[in-house]
Amino acid sequence: MSIETILNLLADGEFHSGSEIGEASGVSRAAVWKQIKKLEELGLQPESVKGKGYRLAYPIDLLDPAKIQPHLGEAHYLLPKLEILQQTDSTNNVIQQRILDQAESGHTCLAEFQTAGRGRRGRAWVSPFASNIYMSVLWRFSGGAAALEGLSLAIGVAIVDALREAGIADLELKWPNDVLHQGRKLAGILLEMSGDAAGPCAVVIGIGVNVHMPKQQAADIDQPWVDLYTLLNHQVSRNQIAGLLIRHVLVTLKQFSISGFSNFHKQWSALDAFYDHEVQLSTVGQTLHGIAKGVDHTGALILELEDGEQKQINGGEVSLRKVSDAAD
Ligand code: BTN
Repeated sequence: MSIETILNLLADGEFHSGSEIGEASGVSRAAVWKQIKKLEELGLQPESVKGKGYRLAYPIDLLDPAKIQPHLGEAHYLLPKLEILQQTDSTNNVIQQRILDQAESGHTCLAEFQTAGRGRRGRAWVSPFASNIYMSVLWRFSGGAAALEGLSLAIGVAIVDALREAGIADLELKWPNDVLHQGRKLAGILLEMSGDAAGPCAVVIGIGVNVHMPKQQAADIDQPWVDLYTLLNHQVSRNQIAGLLIRHVLVTLKQFSISGFSNFHKQWSALDAFYDHEVQLSTVGQTLHGIAKGVDHTGALILELEDGEQKQINGGEVSLRKVSDAAD
């Protein structure tokens, strides 16, 4: 019996008896019980009630290419391949491998579950099963590292556009690449590059969006966060969100590869969560204080220091927080 069979049955959030599940999959009740245990390992919380059977804590919509496709709009021609995996270590690793396999720009991977999802600055990215969006996209650039300046900021704008289309208001961006809702993190971006710093290179654009974070896994998140379910107060179709994200991200990548960050500067600035705020910026071995003054045409942060000097800060392993906040 495959885990898919039981997942497809239980996805509706209703009770299904052990014998019903057994019949649908042609296995014994003991085998059904083993599969239920596997669902727990994936981070789902199946409930078992005597006389009624098993059900999930809430309905889930599994990722389905047929349900993603209608949301792609004009970007369908920019998507050479969409891989949907039930489980992987990190979708960024999958795309790293596809770079070596000579896959084309636009190749996208989504996973239901990541066993080693990673965030920026060595953090883990909490990735429970069928709860959120974990997505990575491959894009090739010919102009070397310089052509990538501001890319993560442009991707932030693409995510905001996608989420706005799904009905989410009051979104902001925190330099260099967090999507916030009223100060709480809703989505994160992890770019990884390989290739020639001066010539052809390939970028993995990894995106995580909190859709409906189970309480149990939420305890592992060490910064203020929010999910779409909390913001909208109802279940959200992950297929719709995935389709909108793919569409806006691919269109953005296409546009960025032609004209770089300059096209996105105005939009990013309008979403800047920290503009004119007193901030603390930490890099390896250095902490700077100043007033955030937006970003320049390359996407570098402009930090006005106490003596009035303006310093341009490029992205990388940097952490930024408002002086009034406790966490970054
Ligand atoms: C951040 O720290 O804000 C970046 C989070 C990036 C998470 C995504 S989920 C899909 C992709 N795979 C990963 O392992 N990380 C990125």
